[in-house]
Amino acid sequence: MNTSEKPAEMSTWHLVGLVSSFTDISLDDNGCKVLPGCKTMSIPKSQNADQARMNRISDLDDQVLVFKFKGFIHAIDNQCPHSSFPLKQGNVFDIEDLGNPNGAGIRCFRHGWRFDLFTGKADRGNHELNLWDIKLRDPLTSENGDVTTISDKEVWVRRAVQS
Ligand code: FES
Repeated sequence: MNTSEKPAEMSTWHLVGLVSSFTDISLDDNGCKVLPGCKTMSIPKSQNADQARMNRISDLDDQVLVFKFKGFIHAIDNQCPHSSFPLKQGNVFDIEDLGNPNGAGIRCFRHGWRFDLFTGKADRGNHELNLWDIKLRDPLTSENGDVTTISDKEVWVRRAVQS
């Protein structure tokens, strides 16, 4: 029997909350700090969903950072790819110079490197930020047929499968 983990087994989807549970940090007057409107979740690379814990301190290497900016949900590694500083202490900003009105980036608080939130590319060096896959799903219907809020969606994330 082959006991090695396959990529699909390592990329389980994880529920991180309803869209309405994320405060849009573009509405923050304090410079779009990620921290107040974000959720961090520890998802060890080789473990499954029931071992994940919301807002639990653990190795930065295992944490996903999820937040909403200008109406878009973003899910990224919480660990800066430069020197492992937590990106939840960073600032999010618009990237309008490339002609995309929805472009956005995150600036690491430690050394000021900036990363594109849609491509993961850094503004210097060859470091690249890991972006997580995101899915918005309709909430599950309860036993009596009610749905929490018809216009709300569940946010699911999974570690992107490396090709
Ligand atoms: S640790 Fe993030 S820029 Fe250096």
